[in-house]
Amino acid sequence: MFKNISEIVISFVVLGSLVTGCSSQPTQPAPTPSASATPVAPAATTALADVIKNGLPGYSVGMRGVSDSFDNMYYAAKGGNWALSAYMSNVMRDYMSPTQITRIKDYPQWDSFVKGNLGDNSALKKAMDAKDMVAFEKAYSDTIDNCNGCHSASGFKFIKKIKASGPKANLDYSFQSNASDNK
Ligand code: HEC
Repeated sequence: MFKNISEIVISFVVLGSLVTGCSSQPTQPAPTPSASATPVAPAATTALADVIKNGLPGYSVGMRGVSDSFDNMYYAAKGGNWALSAYMSNVMRDYMSPTQITRIKDYPQWDSFVKGNLGDNSALKKAMDAKDMVAFEKAYSDTIDNCNGCHSASGFKFIKKIKASGPKANLDYSFQSNASDNK
């Protein structure tokens, strides 16, 4: 697995040069392995890696979207717009996608949170599918505890999520739908 962004960029550069080499010189014998197996990052590659990393959103920006979508998810379920609730659950994941690149080491922790709390076998997803608000309330409150568990474990125990007093986007939360309407 890649340890940091420089390694990804280096890998693309190395892969790119290998592909080019194959197509332009098909009869060339295989090169003798060099003494060093680890590619060294040229200064320009490291600079490019920094630009990519710094230019993409990290956790704070992603979490803002996660939190708002999580609030919307609740009010959609409460209003009976279960497809919107399921949709908001997917949007939460989209907000964090860039952190696959910008926070490579931390991403697996987010990914396992998603699988356990929002995935197909999660209590929240099952409650959405069954349009079961009682089960949804319980699963939602358990998920809030898990959000805050990660905040504490990451050194941010002062970021304590609480249930919102209303949704964050102006949408029709009482439009009646099934979770399966969200394709
Ligand atoms: C995998 C760990 C993890 C999980 C799970 C997690 N968070 Fe976070 N969250 C963080 C970290 C780390 C920060 C601080 C980010 C920073 O400033 O670099 C943060 C920051 C935040 C912030 C403040 C950011 C801002 O711009 O307002 C909010 C709000 C937030 N999280 C909400 C949530 C909610 C809601 C959930 C659950 C649905 C959740 N988080 C789940 C790790 C996590």
